[in-house]
Amino acid sequence: MTDLAATAAGAPAGAEPFDTVDVIRTKRDKQHLSPGQIDWVIDAYTRGLVAEEQMAALNMAIFLNGMSRAEIERWTTAMINSGERLDYSGLGMPTADKHSTGGVGDKITLPLAPLVASFGVAVPQLSGRGLGHTGGTLDKLEAIPGWRAHLTNEEVFAQLQGVGAVICAAGPGLAPADKKLYALRDVTSTVESIPLIASSIMSKKIAEGTGALVLDVKVGSGAFMKDLAMAGELARTVVDLGTDAGVKTVALLTDMDAPLGLTAGNALEVRESVEVLAGGGPKDVIELTVALAVEMLAAAGRPVDPDRVLAALQDGQAMDTWRAMISAQGGDPDAPLPVAKHREQVLAPRDGVLARLDAYGVGVAAWRLGAGRARKEDPVQFAAGIEMHAKPGDQVVGGQPLLTLHTDTPERFDRAYEALEGAWALAEDGQKVVRRPVVLDRLH
Ligand code: URA
Repeated sequence: MTDLAATAAGAPAGAEPFDTVDVIRTKRDKQHLSPGQIDWVIDAYTRGLVAEEQMAALNMAIFLNGMSRAEIERWTTAMINSGERLDYSGLGMPTADKHSTGGVGDKITLPLAPLVASFGVAVPQLSGRGLGHTGGTLDKLEAIPGWRAHLTNEEVFAQLQGVGAVICAAGPGLAPADKKLYALRDVTSTVESIPLIASSIMSKKIAEGTGALVLDVKVGSGAFMKDLAMAGELARTVVDLGTDAGVKTVALLTDMDAPLGLTAGNALEVRESVEVLAGGGPKDVIELTVALAVEMLAAAGRPVDPDRVLAALQDGQAMDTWRAMISAQGGDPDAPLPVAKHREQVLAPRDGVLARLDAYGVGVAAWRLGAGRARKEDPVQFAAGIEMHAKPGDQVVGGQPLLTLHTDTPERFDRAYEALEGAWALAEDGQKVVRRPVVLDRLH
């Protein structure tokens, strides 16, 4: 046995039906884990019986050797069963949620949740915080004075009934196995594994109790998935997991080579989202918001024509729900947003066409300016980030600002400039700039 493994994690030798070292060896040797092994290892890890180093080894074996569809499904179910399952069947209206795999400038949840809710489909959006170069929805909304991320299950239910949309933190009872696993993967370089990402996302979404789910799988330099083939495989895996669990699931593959919209950073992105809700804002943000809303409404059984969805951004229908949603969580939708104490600009060196603006470089620069965190417990600067004044394909004039860098701590500028080195380029003579479409593919 086994004694070594069990004792290392504090379990009495021989008291458990499986042996952690055997489970690790099975996957290390490219065998399939049995349903019993999976149920046990997730449960024992959640109870603190499987040591962190053992789970790290198992994660790495899964990362290297993969999992079958049956293993992924069982792994996901075991993570769901590690905590509570929410139930919105008493709401009297359909529910739909969206999950993004994470990108730079991805503020879409902010206009999307109230937009969909304004058509009578409830949106229980349990969101996370940013880690590394990708932003987190809760960090963005916390830039609004007074806004509260933590609600009880009863408060979520009441807000869905009254307003139709909630964006809040997932409670500690929802898929606790994923919370531990995600933190471990983050520090053991095992995040970018399709079975582990798919099960992580879907355990939370199925436990959350949504009836329909639209997944926004980001593809490109600023995303986990750098190429379309890998993104397609992740999307297929997630759609199958959702469908098998009775959740109507659709995935869009969307571009993340360039940042979304013209801002990256918490308060800056709230400001841009409010512009979209007021009928303005950047074209790509509007296009993706409408595309995802159309999918969510259709998946929830309430199809709405894209023109009508767009009109709800322009005529104030979605803005009314946004204001109600922010106020219900203690936020003041009219309060001024934080503004950075220091700003610097990157200027275009000559006339030309912006050929490239790299999402990863902009994301890292915004993070270094203070918009993101290096460790889970770090605070963020709400006002920090990057404002972009042109997108790839746009004509620029020599001397005009390309980027404005915002921070409260000016000593951060140098490291942000380093991240931006090589992250943007003007087209050479005769170079044709081809812009990728916002939505690259759709799977259902
Ligand atoms: N988002 C998640 O929730 N989990 C992952 O593993 C990756 C992205």
